[in-house]
Amino acid sequence: MRVLIIGGTTFIGPPLVRRLIDLGHEVAVFHRGQTKAVLPVNVEHFHGDRHDLGKHAEAFRRFGPDIVVDMIAFTEADALGLVRTFRGLARRMVVISSADVYRAYGHFLGIEPGPIEPTPLTEESPLRQVLFPYRSQAEVPDDFLYSYDKIPVERVAMGDPDLPGTVLRLPMVHGPGDTYNRLSTYLKRMDNRRPAIVLDETMARWKCPRGYVEDVAAAIALVVVDERAAGRMYNVSESTAFSEAEWVRKIGEVVGWRGEVVTVPAGRIPLPYRLEQSFDTDSGRIRRELDFNEMSSTQEALERTIAWERANPSGASQDIGLLNYEAEDALLAEIGQGWK
Ligand SMILES: NC(=O)c1ccc[n+]([C@@H]2O[C@H](COP(=O)([O-])OP(=O)(O)OC[C@H]3O[C@@H](n4cnc5c(N)ncnc54)[C@H](OP(=O)(O)O)[C@@H]3O)[C@@H](O)[C@H]2O)c1
Repeated sequence: MRVLIIGGTTFIGPPLVRRLIDLGHEVAVFHRGQTKAVLPVNVEHFHGDRHDLGKHAEAFRRFGPDIVVDMIAFTEADALGLVRTFRGLARRMVVISSADVYRAYGHFLGIEPGPIEPTPLTEESPLRQVLFPYRSQAEVPDDFLYSYDKIPVERVAMGDPDLPGTVLRLPMVHGPGDTYNRLSTYLKRMDNRRPAIVLDETMARWKCPRGYVEDVAAAIALVVVDERAAGRMYNVSESTAFSEAEWVRKIGEVVGWRGEVVTVPAGRIPLPYRLEQSFDTDSGRIRRELDFNEMSSTQEALERTIAWERANPSGASQDIGLLNYEAEDALLAEIGQGWK
């Protein structure tokens, strides 16, 4: 099969490319040429901007993709450009979305009114009513945050009978190459031999969907090669969603951290989000319909991510929901859990 990937060279793209090549497919990537990745030599590169996809239609036609995978459709205009370019050119499209489409995520951000929703979220769970979740953070209308929303992207991706779509709602992905260095906040504290990591009790219980990059890439490869995925929408996430406290402990076990997770009553640590609302997802559908299964255990996945994060420290971790060390020490001393 010939697979064209829009994007493909930053984080989830490279393991997806490698997986497809390993499965015997021919792969091409379309990107601006700004991000260099080590990809197999037989991968063809097309350079250009996705905002002008149509300009490259002739080159795409020469490659002759059976399937086009859009890693980077962030706006309705992106998705419309994809469909206009590949209708009549590819047989199917796979579009990468996110668990941020769910209404529960809007509650979590504090932009969506209404009561807390139960989780895990299935593909049928309600979507956000409030579109453009990050618009208030945009400085100007041509800011990425102004028009980012995967909900209109999904509608376009699932709405063309001549180019059947598959949508994958991804979790928070960790692994080598993670541009967010998602583990660094906790890893840094463990490597600094902090005696405790102090979590607000609500944050300690909070759950989000997570996935290891190689497994997420394998899920994408699966829907690329399996025709049963046409016209289907799938959550991708680990089958067990750990609470934040459990997640910190898992990381701690892998690195041999001897400290403990201490939870404190609500109100002691400022929280930027409404953490009463979890948004962990149920990934049962892709497991039942397409036999998806992770290739690595949580332990193996964490070992690889941690090794990579240590070799590539971010310096810019956001430390959301955590105090600085001084304030944390004062709070630990107050509750009798300080340095021993
Ligand atoms: N990471 C997570 O935790 C997470 C969670 C949920 C959903 N997702 C979704 O996963 C997708 C992204 O994953 P990724 O970054 O790992 O993908 P990727 O495909 O590995 O990397 C992004 C690619 O986009 C290319 N690119 C960026 N802007 C471009 C433009 N204007 N025109 C053409 N190419 C462009 C980059 O190459 P050049 O720089 O060379 O152009 C690069 O190849 C997104 O849809 C995101 O919403 C991620």
